[in-house]
Amino acid sequence: MYCVRNVTEDLYWVGGNDRRLALFENIHPIERGVSYNSYLLIDNKTVLFDTVDWSICRQFIENIRAVLEDRDLDYMVINHMEPDHAACIEEILLRYPKVKIVCSKKASMFMNQFGFNIHDNVIEVKEGDNLSFGKHNVTFIAAPMIHWPEAMVTYDTTDGVLFSADAFGSFGALDGKLFNDEVDFHKDWIDEARRYYTNIVGKYGPHVQALLKKASNIQIKMICPLHGPVWRNDFGYFLDKYDKWSRYEPEKKGVMIVYGTMYGNTEAAANDLATRLVKKGITNVVMYDVSKTHVSYLISESFKYSHIVLASVTYNLKIYPPMLNYIMDMKALNLQKRTFALIENGSWAPQSGKLMRELLNDMKDMTILDSDITVNSSMKEQDKDSMESICESIIQSMK
Ligand code: FEO
Repeated sequence: MYCVRNVTEDLYWVGGNDRRLALFENIHPIERGVSYNSYLLIDNKTVLFDTVDWSICRQFIENIRAVLEDRDLDYMVINHMEPDHAACIEEILLRYPKVKIVCSKKASMFMNQFGFNIHDNVIEVKEGDNLSFGKHNVTFIAAPMIHWPEAMVTYDTTDGVLFSADAFGSFGALDGKLFNDEVDFHKDWIDEARRYYTNIVGKYGPHVQALLKKASNIQIKMICPLHGPVWRNDFGYFLDKYDKWSRYEPEKKGVMIVYGTMYGNTEAAANDLATRLVKKGITNVVMYDVSKTHVSYLISESFKYSHIVLASVTYNLKIYPPMLNYIMDMKALNLQKRTFALIENGSWAPQSGKLMRELLNDMKDMTILDSDITVNSSMKEQDKDSMESICESIIQSMK
């Protein structure tokens, strides 16, 4: 059965949801599923904006057939070639062989690279090129590295609709609610939107800044991303988040404590610090066990908070492996501008503090507080002064 919604009078959401997939990109857990959005415009010409993941192809085809009725498909605009959106291109070509594929030169190259049989159906476009479908005119805007190099966004100048590809997307299936004002975004969606952004696009902050600059020059009335809700008002809220995330500015002044513990002693030291901070009035403190929390959540929270405490046991004379994985992911995603405090633990040759400091020193604009602490197996009375001094340093640096 088809399941579509009107976005405007003549634009339809023809995407779908996957609530079965465990790991997005086979790496990020998606407990609330994910939507793959695709849009179909009915004008003098019929135009499909992106396709969907293979997993929901059947639903997608039913949706398109329902909206097209007996019309043919004239154009297929491909803003992004990653297979979660592009997997069904060939299927569309088989069903609508006369369709013209509109995409960037790189996207056309990727189609061949992925082995799609696209024949001579491709019209390559570049930034500033325009196309008219009848009442609707669109212009194409390059959006490289959001989140692949071939990406572009398409702006419908007639209705002010921006087809934003991965930008402004979110993890999470749509429970029938398509628009941002049909959900409580701040309560129910922002954490998954942040986790999506930081893990998928987070590395490319400068590119996102470039796109935001271009977007500020156009009159946007609606944002249609490839995942998550469609935005039709309150753009400032989400644009502000994107601006902060892409400049690597923290959203909140607060302390995120991430600990790697084997038998609970490093966790006990982390608890001691958290309690000291809260007793001194710093109540915006969150704690995560690095072994129990998927790194995608840790990354998301790291983009949110201003201060991060890393507490790691020494393991095989190195950083505890899950902690190392988290730090390396932070580095890979280009996180910057955070203040760190370090707690190391070791029973005979503590090393993790020194090694974590070296890794963080290698990252951009990171401040690492001088005061740190070496816990020998377990925190004791004589360690309290050092812990107090870390607590004070954090508080001072928050002023
Ligand atoms: Fe949702 Fe980069 O694909």
